Order: sequence, then C-alpha cells, then structure tokens
Amino acid sequence: MEHPRIIRRTKRTTRLTRLAAPTVSAVLSVAVLATGCTGSTVQGRPGASGVRDPYFPRAGNGGYQVEHYDLNLAYDPADGRLHGTAVITARAEQGLSSFNLDFSGLKVEGVEVQGAGARHNRSGTELTVRPAKDLKKGEVFRTEIDYSGRPKPVVDPDGSEEGWIATADGAVGVGEPVGSMGWFPGNHHPSDKATYDIKLTVPKGYEAVSNGALRSRTDVADGRTEFAWHSAEPMASYLATAAIGKFDVTTGRTPSGIPLYNAVTPAESAKSAPALERLPEIVEWGSAKFGPYPFDTVGTIVLPGGTLGYALETQTKPVYPGAPDENLILHELAHQWFGNSVSPKSWKDMWLNEGFATYAEWLWAEEHDGPTAQRRFEAIVDGDATVDQAADSEWDAFPPAAPPGPEHISGDPVYVRGAMVLHRIRQEVGDEKFFALLRGWATDHRHGNASTADFTAYAQRHTGHDLKKVWDVWLYGKDRPKAP
Ligand code: ARG
Ligand code: ZN
Repeated sequence: MEHPRIIRRTKRTTRLTRLAAPTVSAVLSVAVLATGCTGSTVQGRPGASGVRDPYFPRAGNGGYQVEHYDLNLAYDPADGRLHGTAVITARAEQGLSSFNLDFSGLKVEGVEVQGAGARHNRSGTELTVRPAKDLKKGEVFRTEIDYSGRPKPVVDPDGSEEGWIATADGAVGVGEPVGSMGWFPGNHHPSDKATYDIKLTVPKGYEAVSNGALRSRTDVADGRTEFAWHSAEPMASYLATAAIGKFDVTTGRTPSGIPLYNAVTPAESAKSAPALERLPEIVEWGSAKFGPYPFDTVGTIVLPGGTLGYALETQTKPVYPGAPDENLILHELAHQWFGNSVSPKSWKDMWLNEGFATYAEWLWAEEHDGPTAQRRFEAIVDGDATVDQAADSEWDAFPPAAPPGPEHISGDPVYVRGAMVLHRIRQEVGDEKFFALLRGWATDHRHGNASTADFTAYAQRHTGHDLKKVWDVWLYGKDRPKAP
C-alpha cells in the first residue's frame, strides 16, 4: 500500500496524513471520523471496482462516468521517464465515499479531489481514491492524479503488448483492450466515453502526436516543446494515443475539408507514400457509404518498423507499426465509424468493430478491382486461399459473438466470420436494404455505445426481415457454418 501524499495542504488533509498507513477499513473509519468532525453526514458508499465486463471484469469502475480527461504528460526518450498529471472531470452516479480508477505500474505521487488532498491506495490495477468529503449523486467532481516513473508495456491475454511502449526514437501509448491504464489513470472501459485534452511535453527536436486537433505547439522552459491536442468528440479510453519521436509531419485537408495530419517516421516515409496518398479518397468513400466521417480531424501515425505487432485504430489518427498499405489504412479508417464512433458496450461485442472493418475492406475491394464480397465469402467457405488468405485462417474456430476467453477477442473469427455475418445479412435482404442498414447503424449510434443484441434487434427492425437463422448459425453457432 502506498503512503498518501497530499499535493496542497488543507487543514483537514494535514491532520489525515499524520495518521498511520491505513488498511482499507481503517481508512473508512478515518473518513467517517473526519467527516463527522465537520458535522456533515456520510452519504456515499464505495463505487464498484469493475463494470462486470464478461472478459475483463476489473476493467472500468462503477459509480461515476467521466466527462473529460485533461492529461499533461512529460516524457524524455533519453531516460524513458514519464511524468503525468491527469485531471479527470466526472459525474457521480451514486453517492460516493470512494471510487476506483484503473492504473497499472508508475508511482502515484498525490491525489486531490475537488482541490483537497485525498487518500488513495493501490491493489493490482485498481487505484482507490477516498475523497475528504463524500461525493453526492449527480455531483460533477474533479480528480487530479500526479504520477511518474518508467512505464512498462501491459501484456494482453493474447500475449501482445500495449500500454506505453518505447520505440527506436521515442515512445507510443496505445490501449486496446486494457493498455491505457499503463500510461494514465482512468475509467478504462469502452462503455465510458469522454472528451480529451492531451498535452505532451518533450525535448526540443521531437514531435509529439495525439488524437484530435493540435491546438498549440509552444517552446517552454528547459529546452522542451509542449504540444496541446484536443479531442472534441467522445472517445473510449482504449482509443487514446500519444506518439513521441522524430516524425515527418504533413498537413492538409480532405476534399470535403477535414483537416489531415500525418506523422511518419522518416525511414518509412517513401514506403508509406502510395497508400497515404489515397487516405483522403478513403475518408470520402467511407462518408458516402457509412454517413459523414464522425470526427473533425483525420490522420496517421507511422511508427518505426516493428514497434508494435499490430496497427490500431486510435481515434482520428490510427497507429501503424511501419508503412501501411492501402488495405490497412482502409481497415483502420473504417473503425472510425465502427468501433470509435459506435463503440462496443463490452469486449464481447468486438465483432461489431472487427467484423465491420473487415467487411469494409471487402466493400472497398469490390469497388476497386478486387474480388466481390460474394466471391470472397464463397472462397472462405470453400477454403480457397487464392481469393482470400482468410480461407486458411482459423475463421471457424468459434462464433464471433462468443469468443471462448479474453485471449480470443481479437481472434480470426471475430474479424472473418464477423464479416461473413454481414455478408449473410446482405444475401438475405439485398443490397439496397443492406447498405441502408450499415449507414443507419452508424448514424443512429453515432458517438455512442452498442451491443450485439442492439445490433441484431436493429437489423431486424431496419430491414423488416427475420434474421434469426443468420444469428443462430453465423453469429452464435458453435459449428462451422455451411454456405446457405
Ligand atoms: N484493433 C486492431 C485492428 O484490428 C488490432 C488490435 C490487436 N490487438 C491485440 N491485442 N491483439 O486494427
Ligand atoms: Zn480492426
């Protein structure tokens, strides 16, 4: 357990800090005593330590919803040290005597709630914060957490790395599914979306890139530069990113006027150029198919080769581990509609992200000299990998809406069989209703959250077709589905 350190000393917190390092129950009675002294009544209870996600039960926290994250991160690639201040504005959904944040590694140097020092303790990835005064239901409150250290990557159940990862000339923060807790404290579950200001301070000569729009770039003290990024639209915390390095930056606008910001590692620049040239066209194509692009900026972060084992659809600026090809850019940009704007309610709904982004690849291909979606669908069922390599994958290992464990939420069936579910709907309802469905789904759930059950109900209502057989066989069926 950590010893609480108070940032600003008020009368009450000074008194509290003198008490011995507390156990949880001791802290509780201290809080009761302290509040009792001022005459106010204790009306809160602890917020839950997780939101009961079927795959990550400790992810997220109960009792509040975050409205805004204001992150101030200083990083020095030379020594790998991160110093962070996170100011989290949240609304209490119940009376709270304490609440949790998800946070992994790094040292917490102090916590304040509503400007007063707050006790805190840590257990695993749970940071429990006990405000000096209980929070009332409906109250909007501000929590400030100061922290520092050398962040280590978070290892996923499937063995891949996320969190804060050092690169050849800097670092990157990524978070799907649970890596964001490795670089900032938060309510790290996709069901709690918020707006963000991410300020990155780095030694002069480095670029620092994050989600949304660059509000300012300022040379500050000690030979450092501060980059202030703003995300105006709600974002799930696993989609937050921060990339520090020696990037070549190009800016521009898409044909419809969306500001574009590409940060590319110089060594990958020539190889990235052909695909990046098509990015504006891809955004316009997506807008025509799925409804207006959901964010006010778009872009790219190309990291030094091999930094990550995967690309990620980080909001407005997907991250690529080396030069992307056109298909990968298409996939990550399709997520801006499917996954980022319409976010999953839980990690069980991952096929709503990956199945849709994969199907977007099929749609793009059939309109740009590739095989038709129907031909791909048949080739996968028939095991013909000359048409689609996914035919050789483990696409039929489990039903896409029911991965057998957290290590499978990014498994082949979630992508491939997820896309096949969409193609089965298209076969049943025809192109006109199918494309109206895709667009309607993205539009009606814009900037929200949705579950698999929300989708199946919506698809039936929207198309007027009974699709139960498609759900039973393709979405939930354990056996390898046969072509209809
Ligand atoms: N969502 C990413 C994509 O499809 C892949 C993330 C893979 N992450 C993992 N832990 N396996 O673009
Ligand atoms: Zn994807």
